[in-house]
Amino acid sequence: DNNKITIAIDGFSSTGKSTIAKQLANQLGYVYVDSGAMYRAVTLYAMQNNLIGDAYFKEETLIEQLPTIDISFAFNKTLGFAEVFLNGVNVEKDIRTLEVSGFVSQVAAVPEVRKQLVDQQRKIGENKGVVMDGRDIGTVVFPNADLKLFMTASAETRAERRYNELIERGDEVDYQAVLKNVQERDYMDSNRKDSPLIKAKDAIEIDNSNMTIDEQFKVISNLVTKAISNA
Ligand code: CDP
Ligand code: CDP
Repeated sequence: DNNKITIAIDGFSSTGKSTIAKQLANQLGYVYVDSGAMYRAVTLYAMQNNLIGDAYFKEETLIEQLPTIDISFAFNKTLGFAEVFLNGVNVEKDIRTLEVSGFVSQVAAVPEVRKQLVDQQRKIGENKGVVMDGRDIGTVVFPNADLKLFMTASAETRAERRYNELIERGDEVDYQAVLKNVQERDYMDSNRKDSPLIKAKDAIEIDNSNMTIDEQFKVISNLVTKAISNA
């Protein structure tokens, strides 16, 4: 219907973007798209095919193979959100490892990768009624989004959140390695040439270092209500 809006949520790693995006999508009956999952899935492909490793990145080969890389989503009723698939295989869990996090910012800096994924993201969002989170949603993917949020929190808070998540999954990681990855991705994502992570001029910044998930939901729900009535 005509009242459906587009909500773009950008920000640094582990600022609670996907948490709020899922809550809003469920509340509004909108589609939630985790754009980071798409970059992570392409990264997993590159790792599985020995195109990226600690000392190498076969960027040209990855670019050649891009047309054969199919990323898709399928809603999982039990989980309440869409899981990501790489060439038909559910990779929702495999893409969240610290190892994938260690390579993803290099893969996401490749313009050809970005173009393929941004085209797909725009198609998914063409009829509005979408909540998308990432790094360039309000600046590049949907510059005309009805509501743009830019989430921040201190690096230590974010690393602690991510560390707890990885430990809960059963991954053996140490806090310092998680903190280092968060800081490295902040830097690489903010300083790449193509679609760097920056706050859109018309985005509302929310620092949730000291907000619980419920508190951030209340604040943002009010912004959404306003945006819908203005649309
Ligand atoms: O969940 P987390 O904040 O750790 O990251 P993510 O949203 O899963 O994104 C993983 C990586 O994908 C980021 O560090 C970026 O390098 C890249 N990304 C991007 O370049 N553009 C987006 N719209 C989303 C993610
Ligand atoms: O999507 P993004 O990487 O920005 O973050 P997320 O996956 O939504 O949140 C990362 C972790 O921080 C999750 O375990 C959330 O439950 C937690 N979180 C929190 O403790 N307090 C907040 N205000 C927001 C998120």
